[in-house]
Amino acid sequence: MTTLKNDLLLRTLRGEKTERTPVWMMRQAGRYLPDYLKLKDKYSFFERVQRPELAAEITIQPVEQVGVDAAIIFSDILVIPQAMGMEVQMVEHKGPILPDPIRRASDLDKLRVPDVIESLGYVFEALRLTKKTLDGRVPLIGFAGAPWTLLCYMVEGKGSKTFDVAKAFCYTQPETANLLLQLITDTTIAYLKGQAAAGADVIQIFDSWGGLLGPEDFEALSLRYIRQIVAALKGHALLIIFAKGAWHSLEEMAATGADGLGIDWCIRPAMARQLAGPRVALQGNFDPAKLLSPIPVIRKEVRAMLDAFDGGPHIANLGHGILPNVPVDHARAFVETVKNYAYEPAE
Ligand code: CP3
Repeated sequence: MTTLKNDLLLRTLRGEKTERTPVWMMRQAGRYLPDYLKLKDKYSFFERVQRPELAAEITIQPVEQVGVDAAIIFSDILVIPQAMGMEVQMVEHKGPILPDPIRRASDLDKLRVPDVIESLGYVFEALRLTKKTLDGRVPLIGFAGAPWTLLCYMVEGKGSKTFDVAKAFCYTQPETANLLLQLITDTTIAYLKGQAAAGADVIQIFDSWGGLLGPEDFEALSLRYIRQIVAALKGHALLIIFAKGAWHSLEEMAATGADGLGIDWCIRPAMARQLAGPRVALQGNFDPAKLLSPIPVIRKEVRAMLDAFDGGPHIANLGHGILPNVPVDHARAFVETVKNYAYEPAE
């Protein structure tokens, strides 16, 4: 085992005081780096995901080119529906399409709880290769979609702003919805244990659509299942929950025992801290569109964000994924401002 040269992220998640705030960016692998776009011209999306040497290369690009304090494995949340037997197409400019969505109880017969080594072994292989190539430079983050967010795509069959087909499915066929969420949860637990065994130091659960649910429905359709995942992963990896827009449930999310909670830019850090309590690390929450501002504005706003997180473990990040049209030097300015912050003389 290599010891990590930079373990700021891990120490922050454990609640330890660190010499400075760690920084990484959601969706930092892929999307905006010119070297990624070159690979995108040559290989299809699932080729990039399924070939460990490509996935590892893409994962490491932002570590070398932007200087982030963690790598996140290049993959996608939709590899789980795929492994459960659904067809997933990634259509340029349109996003994911699942041509044969789940709409009724009998559709569950088409799904399986897969042997994760057989169906997702390529992700474990990519993690092992990345870990080896990183050689201890920074920690490695693995991830999965929250069961609720995966249900959204599996039922709707495509992206949506409201996911009303998926919500109607849950509200009219609650028993089938719960069965589906449990199948996804069981698969996800096996998958994430495999990721931890393959070298992921931290696991992030992306509940990108958690904010579409009110507090009671968030508990019933999302948090209930996330809680099972957190409990099952304890001792295997450190865990971060990012449920975009679900700030109303920060207290309940902290109570799951997760080590970190992601927040978006629509909540003040002080309020998030009040809701989440003193223990848990908070991650966020720069508005990703603000990376399109001029660099001096980025620097000023990042410092204001860091000031606002004062008093409690913090991981600097965006409040959602980096946008594809962000210039690389703007992403670098974000990271550098965080890194230099602690070294500036106090005024
Ligand atoms: O840091 C990283 O980028 C690691 C890899 C990563 C991808 N997807 C690669 C990807 C991660 C962490 C994800 C997570 C993911 N995938 C989420 C949750 C995070 C979030 O942004 O809310 C969701 C909802 C998906 C589903 C998905 N995959 C969508 C909606 C799309 C199309 C639009 C988009 O986001 O770009 C994808 C495609 C996808 N996944 C791309 C990448 C780099 C773009 C396609 C391409 O480059 O060919």
